[in-house]
Amino acid sequence: MDENRYFTLNNGVKMPCLGLGVFRNTDPKECEKSIICAIENGYRMIDTAAVYGNERAVGSAVRHCGLPREELFITTKLWYADCCREMAKRALDRSLKKLGLDYVDLYLVHEPYGWLKSAWRGLEECAAEGKARAIGVSNFGERELEKLLCHANIAPAVDQIELHPYYQRRELLAYLKARGILPEAWAPFAAGNGGLLSEPAITRTAERLGCTPAQAILAWLHGLGAAVIPKSSRPERIAENAQFLKAALTDEDGAEIAALDRGESLFPWDKGWRRPMRKALGFFHIGI
Ligand SMILES: NC(=O)c1ccc[n+]([C@@H]2O[C@H](COP(=O)([O-])OP(=O)(O)OC[C@H]3O[C@@H](n4cnc5c(N)ncnc54)[C@H](OP(=O)(O)O)[C@@H]3O)[C@@H](O)[C@H]2O)c1
Repeated sequence: MDENRYFTLNNGVKMPCLGLGVFRNTDPKECEKSIICAIENGYRMIDTAAVYGNERAVGSAVRHCGLPREELFITTKLWYADCCREMAKRALDRSLKKLGLDYVDLYLVHEPYGWLKSAWRGLEECAAEGKARAIGVSNFGERELEKLLCHANIAPAVDQIELHPYYQRRELLAYLKARGILPEAWAPFAAGNGGLLSEPAITRTAERLGCTPAQAILAWLHGLGAAVIPKSSRPERIAENAQFLKAALTDEDGAEIAALDRGESLFPWDKGWRRPMRKALGFFHIGI
């Protein structure tokens, strides 16, 4: 096992540093094809979620890819409408059924909404029953993590967060490092927004390193200590993204990218009036 290609989580489980994201990859055939292509290109991790509606396609790809199950690392996530102990446990059973698997490698609370204290107990029980090798959270900030850690028997292993050159979240990264929680970068290419991949600081860095802009971004995120889960359905891009570890970034290379930070999320769906509405939809945001 190439150690550079894996992170060791706080419970000792090895997690690949690269995964294929399958958000918005809702056509089952296309989703399965992308996953098989990714696995052929060396990916060992797939990131899905109950709410993505493609767990069946992920499971089918796992069965048809030709690799033993234990060589793959499958993540799925609990949607906030199921965010309490019993519902969380039933939700994982439903996800496992759709995936056709006995366990997932990582089960994440998708959003910090709902009965989080209770839901986390559910996840701890899923882990104890062997249905999730590791458990973690997504879109949690310091405040939510602090509250969760006060009451958790098992600390989250991962926090999957929006993280890319436009939104660098240095304080949160320092906090996660101090708590032994692995950051995992969602939307590493800002989901194609803001022209990130053609940003001069990125293209100059890529040129200097002799790699592509996408590879430069993934290598930079890896340098920050984050796992990455770029999404693509195109075979040539899936292959390109898989090669990012060939690009070794010095601090100087990173400095130009670091200057791109805008200090705020690029995704307005969780801002302004939408935030309280989402909290309400998660029943109550009871602040654990
Ligand atoms: N936890 C959460 O709340 C959360 C939220 C959002 C996403 N996620 C996870 O994170 C994953 C990644 O995020 P994302 O899908 O939103 O965005 P992303 O990975 O930043 O960007 C995906 C976009 O970039 C394009 N792309 C991929 N590789 C490229 C390359 N080498 N060159 C040029 N363009 C390229 C893709 O197009 P093509 O497909 O056409 O190649 C797609 O339009 C998701 O799939 C999901 O698993 C989690």
